Amino acid sequence: MSRLFLFRLAFDIAAACLLLFGFSYWWLGNVAHELAGTAMFLLLIMHNVFNRRWYGTISRRRRDARGAFNTAVTFALATAMLALLVTSILISNALSGIMSAYGGFTVRQLHTLAAYWVLVIVAVHLGLRWSMLMSFARTLLGISYPNAARTLVLRAVTAATAILGVWSSFQLGIGGKLSMQMTLDWWNFEESVAGFFIHCIAIAGLYIALTYYAMKGPRKNKRQAVSASSISENVRQ
Ligand code: HEM
Repeated sequence: MSRLFLFRLAFDIAAACLLLFGFSYWWLGNVAHELAGTAMFLLLIMHNVFNRRWYGTISRRRRDARGAFNTAVTFALATAMLALLVTSILISNALSGIMSAYGGFTVRQLHTLAAYWVLVIVAVHLGLRWSMLMSFARTLLGISYPNAARTLVLRAVTAATAILGVWSSFQLGIGGKLSMQMTLDWWNFEESVAGFFIHCIAIAGLYIALTYYAMKGPRKNKRQAVSASSISENVRQ
Protein backbone atom coordinates (compact mmCIF):
# COMPACT_ATOMS: atom_id res chain seq x y z
CA MET A 1 0.00 0.00 0.00
CA SER A 2 1.54 3.27 -1.10
CA ARG A 3 2.08 6.33 1.09
CA LEU A 4 0.12 8.39 -1.43
CA PHE A 5 -2.94 6.18 -0.97
CA LEU A 6 -2.64 6.59 2.82
CA PHE A 7 -2.59 10.37 2.35
CA ARG A 8 -5.59 10.16 0.06
CA LEU A 9 -7.57 8.22 2.63
CA ALA A 10 -6.51 10.66 5.36
CA PHE A 11 -7.87 13.51 3.19
CA ASP A 12 -11.09 11.53 2.56
CA ILE A 13 -11.57 11.05 6.32
CA ALA A 14 -10.90 14.77 6.89
CA ALA A 15 -13.48 15.69 4.21
CA ALA A 16 -16.06 13.35 5.81
CA CYS A 17 -15.40 14.90 9.26
CA LEU A 18 -15.77 18.42 7.84
CA LEU A 19 -19.03 17.41 6.17
CA LEU A 20 -20.38 16.15 9.50
CA PHE A 21 -19.15 19.28 11.22
CA GLY A 22 -21.04 21.38 8.67
CA PHE A 23 -24.35 20.04 10.01
CA SER A 24 -23.64 21.53 13.43
CA TYR A 25 -24.15 25.13 12.22
CA TRP A 26 -25.88 26.17 15.44
CA TRP A 27 -23.09 24.79 17.62
CA LEU A 28 -20.16 27.11 16.78
CA GLY A 29 -21.84 29.51 14.37
CA ASN A 30 -21.29 30.91 10.92
CA VAL A 31 -17.53 31.56 10.78
CA ALA A 32 -16.63 28.00 11.82
CA HIS A 33 -19.26 26.66 9.38
CA GLU A 34 -17.96 28.66 6.40
CA LEU A 35 -14.30 27.83 7.17
CA ALA A 36 -15.07 24.11 7.51
CA GLY A 37 -17.14 24.14 4.30
CA THR A 38 -14.35 25.87 2.35
CA ALA A 39 -11.76 23.37 3.62
CA MET A 40 -14.09 20.49 2.68
CA PHE A 41 -14.54 21.77 -0.88
CA LEU A 42 -10.75 22.19 -1.26
CA LEU A 43 -10.24 18.60 -0.07
CA LEU A 44 -12.92 17.40 -2.49
CA ILE A 45 -11.23 19.17 -5.40
CA MET A 46 -8.05 17.25 -4.48
CA HIS A 47 -10.11 14.06 -4.12
CA ASN A 48 -11.35 14.46 -7.68
CA VAL A 49 -7.90 15.32 -9.00
CA PHE A 50 -6.60 12.07 -7.45
CA ASN A 51 -9.50 10.14 -8.96
CA ARG A 52 -9.50 11.96 -12.32
CA ARG A 53 -8.62 8.78 -14.25
CA TRP A 54 -11.90 7.19 -13.15
CA TYR A 55 -13.82 9.76 -15.25
CA GLY A 56 -11.72 8.97 -18.33
CA THR A 57 -12.61 5.26 -18.14
CA ILE A 58 -16.40 5.61 -17.82
CA SER A 59 -17.15 5.06 -21.52
CA ARG A 60 -14.76 2.08 -21.80
CA ARG A 61 -16.13 0.27 -18.76
CA ARG A 62 -18.10 -2.96 -18.99
CA ARG A 63 -21.76 -2.45 -18.11
CA ASP A 64 -22.94 -4.36 -15.06
CA ALA A 65 -25.47 -3.43 -12.37
CA ARG A 66 -22.87 -2.51 -9.78
CA GLY A 67 -20.74 -0.45 -12.17
CA ALA A 68 -23.78 1.40 -13.52
CA PHE A 69 -25.00 2.09 -9.98
CA ASN A 70 -21.53 3.35 -8.96
CA THR A 71 -21.43 5.71 -11.95
CA ALA A 72 -24.97 7.00 -11.22
CA VAL A 73 -24.11 7.56 -7.54
CA THR A 74 -20.91 9.45 -8.42
CA PHE A 75 -22.83 11.76 -10.78
CA ALA A 76 -25.61 12.25 -8.23
CA LEU A 77 -22.93 13.14 -5.68
CA ALA A 78 -21.30 15.59 -8.10
CA THR A 79 -24.69 17.25 -8.71
CA ALA A 80 -25.56 17.50 -5.01
CA MET A 81 -22.06 18.81 -4.14
CA LEU A 82 -22.26 21.38 -6.92
CA ALA A 83 -25.67 22.54 -5.62
CA LEU A 84 -24.15 22.75 -2.13
CA LEU A 85 -21.19 24.77 -3.43
CA VAL A 86 -23.27 27.21 -5.49
CA THR A 87 -25.79 27.81 -2.68
CA SER A 88 -22.89 28.21 -0.18
CA ILE A 89 -21.42 31.00 -2.29
CA LEU A 90 -24.82 32.68 -2.68
CA ILE A 91 -25.64 32.73 1.06
CA SER A 92 -22.09 33.18 2.41
CA ASN A 93 -21.73 35.86 5.09
CA ALA A 94 -18.08 36.31 4.16
CA LEU A 95 -19.07 37.04 0.55
CA SER A 96 -22.22 39.00 1.44
CA GLY A 97 -20.73 42.21 0.03
CA ILE A 98 -20.74 40.69 -3.46
CA MET A 99 -23.51 38.11 -3.25
CA SER A 100 -26.18 39.69 -1.01
CA ALA A 101 -28.56 40.20 -3.94
CA TYR A 102 -28.76 36.46 -4.69
CA GLY A 103 -29.03 34.73 -1.31
CA GLY A 104 -32.42 34.47 0.35
CA PHE A 105 -34.71 32.16 2.24
CA THR A 106 -35.23 29.77 -0.69
CA VAL A 107 -31.52 29.53 -1.42
CA ARG A 108 -30.92 28.71 2.27
CA GLN A 109 -33.56 25.97 2.06
CA LEU A 110 -31.91 24.60 -1.11
CA HIS A 111 -28.56 24.67 0.69
CA THR A 112 -29.96 22.57 3.56
CA LEU A 113 -31.70 20.25 1.11
CA ALA A 114 -28.45 19.67 -0.83
CA ALA A 115 -26.48 19.14 2.41
CA TYR A 116 -28.74 16.34 3.70
CA TRP A 117 -28.80 14.65 0.31
CA VAL A 118 -24.99 14.89 0.24
CA LEU A 119 -24.89 13.08 3.61
CA VAL A 120 -26.98 10.20 2.26
CA ILE A 121 -25.18 10.02 -1.11
CA VAL A 122 -21.68 10.19 0.46
CA ALA A 123 -22.73 7.28 2.71
CA VAL A 124 -23.82 5.27 -0.36
CA HIS A 125 -20.53 6.27 -2.06
CA LEU A 126 -18.65 4.87 0.97
CA GLY A 127 -20.85 1.76 1.11
CA LEU A 128 -19.77 0.98 -2.46
CA ARG A 129 -16.12 1.13 -1.32
CA TRP A 130 -16.58 -0.57 2.04
CA SER A 131 -14.83 -3.84 1.07
CA MET A 132 -11.81 -1.84 -0.09
CA LEU A 133 -11.83 0.23 3.11
CA MET A 134 -12.09 -2.91 5.25
CA SER A 135 -9.25 -4.56 3.36
CA PHE A 136 -7.21 -1.39 3.94
CA ALA A 137 -8.02 -1.55 7.68
CA ARG A 138 -7.00 -5.24 7.80
CA THR A 139 -3.65 -4.44 6.14
CA LEU A 140 -3.08 -1.53 8.52
CA LEU A 141 -3.84 -3.70 11.58
CA GLY A 142 -1.82 -6.65 10.23
CA ILE A 143 -4.86 -8.96 10.14
CA SER A 144 -4.31 -11.71 7.58
CA TYR A 145 -6.72 -14.50 8.60
CA PRO A 146 -10.50 -14.56 8.89
CA ASN A 147 -11.84 -14.96 12.41
CA ALA A 148 -15.42 -16.05 13.09
CA ALA A 149 -15.68 -14.24 16.46
CA ARG A 150 -14.36 -10.99 14.97
CA THR A 151 -16.79 -11.24 12.05
CA LEU A 152 -19.67 -11.83 14.49
CA VAL A 153 -18.71 -8.81 16.61
CA LEU A 154 -18.39 -6.57 13.52
CA ARG A 155 -21.78 -7.74 12.23
CA ALA A 156 -23.35 -7.04 15.62
CA VAL A 157 -21.82 -3.53 15.59
CA THR A 158 -23.17 -3.00 12.03
CA ALA A 159 -26.67 -4.18 13.04
CA ALA A 160 -26.63 -1.92 16.13
CA THR A 161 -25.46 1.07 14.01
CA ALA A 162 -28.20 0.45 11.45
CA ILE A 163 -30.91 0.24 14.15
CA LEU A 164 -29.54 3.41 15.76
CA GLY A 165 -29.48 5.00 12.29
CA VAL A 166 -33.21 4.40 11.84
CA TRP A 167 -33.94 5.93 15.26
CA SER A 168 -31.54 8.84 14.60
CA SER A 169 -33.31 9.54 11.29
CA PHE A 170 -36.48 10.25 13.27
CA GLN A 171 -34.61 12.20 15.95
CA LEU A 172 -33.09 14.55 13.34
CA GLY A 173 -36.18 14.55 11.10
CA ILE A 174 -34.17 13.42 8.08
CA GLY A 175 -37.27 12.60 6.02
CA GLY A 176 -38.45 16.22 6.28
CA LYS A 177 -34.99 17.58 5.49
CA LEU A 178 -34.64 15.38 2.39
CA SER A 179 -38.05 16.53 1.12
CA MET A 180 -37.46 20.23 1.86
CA GLN A 181 -40.18 20.50 4.48
CA MET A 182 -40.11 23.48 6.79
CA THR A 183 -39.25 22.55 10.38
CA LEU A 184 -38.57 24.68 13.41
CA ASP A 185 -37.05 21.94 15.54
CA TRP A 186 -33.31 22.53 15.72
CA TRP A 187 -30.94 20.37 17.73
CA ASN A 188 -30.19 21.88 21.13
CA PHE A 189 -26.38 21.95 21.28
CA GLU A 190 -26.47 23.25 24.83
CA GLU A 191 -27.96 19.92 25.88
CA SER A 192 -25.54 17.68 23.95
CA VAL A 193 -22.94 18.08 21.21
CA ALA A 194 -21.81 14.45 21.05
CA GLY A 195 -25.43 13.27 20.70
CA PHE A 196 -25.86 15.23 17.48
CA PHE A 197 -22.73 13.79 15.89
CA ILE A 198 -23.62 10.26 17.03
CA HIS A 199 -26.99 10.64 15.28
CA CYS A 200 -25.32 11.91 12.07
CA ILE A 201 -22.74 9.09 12.08
CA ALA A 202 -25.45 6.49 12.76
CA ILE A 203 -27.52 7.78 9.81
CA ALA A 204 -24.44 7.61 7.55
CA GLY A 205 -23.70 4.13 8.98
CA LEU A 206 -27.24 2.99 8.11
CA TYR A 207 -26.83 3.96 4.43
CA ILE A 208 -23.28 2.54 4.28
CA ALA A 209 -24.56 -0.81 5.63
CA LEU A 210 -27.63 -0.86 3.35
CA THR A 211 -25.44 -0.19 0.29
CA TYR A 212 -22.74 -2.65 1.29
CA TYR A 213 -25.16 -5.54 1.85
CA ALA A 214 -27.34 -4.67 -1.16
CA MET A 215 -24.22 -4.76 -3.36
CA LYS A 216 -22.85 -8.02 -1.94
CA GLY A 217 -24.90 -10.10 -4.40
CA PRO A 218 -23.82 -8.27 -7.58
CA ARG A 219 -20.19 -8.29 -6.38
CA LYS A 220 -20.22 -12.07 -5.83
CA ASN A 221 -21.69 -12.62 -9.27
CA LYS A 222 -19.31 -10.25 -11.00
CA ARG A 223 -15.98 -10.59 -9.32
CA GLN A 224 -14.33 -8.84 -12.19
CA ALA A 225 -16.48 -5.74 -11.81
CA VAL A 226 -14.60 -2.86 -13.35
CA SER A 227 -15.10 -0.54 -10.39
CA ALA A 228 -13.46 -3.14 -8.14
CA SER A 229 -10.49 -3.32 -10.45
CA SER A 230 -10.18 0.45 -10.54
CA ILE A 231 -10.26 0.46 -6.73
CA SER A 232 -7.43 -2.06 -6.50
CA GLU A 233 -5.58 0.02 -9.04
CA ASN A 234 -6.02 3.00 -6.69
CA VAL A 235 -4.67 0.97 -3.76
CA ARG A 236 -1.55 0.09 -5.75
CA GLN A 237 -0.83 3.69 -6.75
C1 HEM B 1 -16.97 13.85 2.01
C2 HEM B 1 -17.11 13.41 0.78
C3 HEM B 1 -16.43 12.18 0.20
C4 HEM B 1 -15.82 11.11 0.80
C5 HEM B 1 -15.67 10.84 2.29
C6 HEM B 1 -15.35 10.23 -0.26
C7 HEM B 1 -14.70 9.01 -0.08
C8 HEM B 1 -14.14 8.24 -1.08
C9 HEM B 1 -13.28 7.11 -0.88
C10 HEM B 1 -12.90 6.53 0.48
C11 HEM B 1 -12.89 6.67 -2.09
C12 HEM B 1 -11.91 5.52 -2.41
C13 HEM B 1 -10.48 5.99 -2.07
C14 HEM B 1 -10.01 7.16 -2.87
O1 HEM B 1 -9.97 7.02 -4.12
O2 HEM B 1 -9.71 8.21 -2.31
C15 HEM B 1 -13.51 7.48 -3.10
C16 HEM B 1 -13.39 7.33 -4.47
C17 HEM B 1 -13.94 8.16 -5.40
N1 HEM B 1 -14.69 9.29 -5.16
FE1 HEM B 1 -15.18 10.01 -3.35
N2 HEM B 1 -15.67 10.78 -1.49
C18 HEM B 1 -16.33 11.97 -1.25
C19 HEM B 1 -16.83 12.84 -2.18
C20 HEM B 1 -16.73 12.67 -3.54
C21 HEM B 1 -17.25 13.60 -4.53
C22 HEM B 1 -17.99 14.91 -4.22
C23 HEM B 1 -16.97 13.07 -5.74
C24 HEM B 1 -17.34 13.64 -7.09
C25 HEM B 1 -18.48 13.64 -7.53
C26 HEM B 1 -16.27 11.81 -5.55
C27 HEM B 1 -15.80 10.98 -6.56
C28 HEM B 1 -15.04 9.85 -6.38
C29 HEM B 1 -14.51 9.03 -7.44
C30 HEM B 1 -14.68 9.29 -8.95
C31 HEM B 1 -13.82 7.97 -6.85
C32 HEM B 1 -13.11 6.82 -7.55
C33 HEM B 1 -14.16 5.75 -7.81
C34 HEM B 1 -13.60 4.40 -8.15
O3 HEM B 1 -12.38 4.23 -8.25
O4 HEM B 1 -14.45 3.52 -8.28
N3 HEM B 1 -16.15 11.60 -4.21
N4 HEM B 1 -14.27 8.45 -2.45
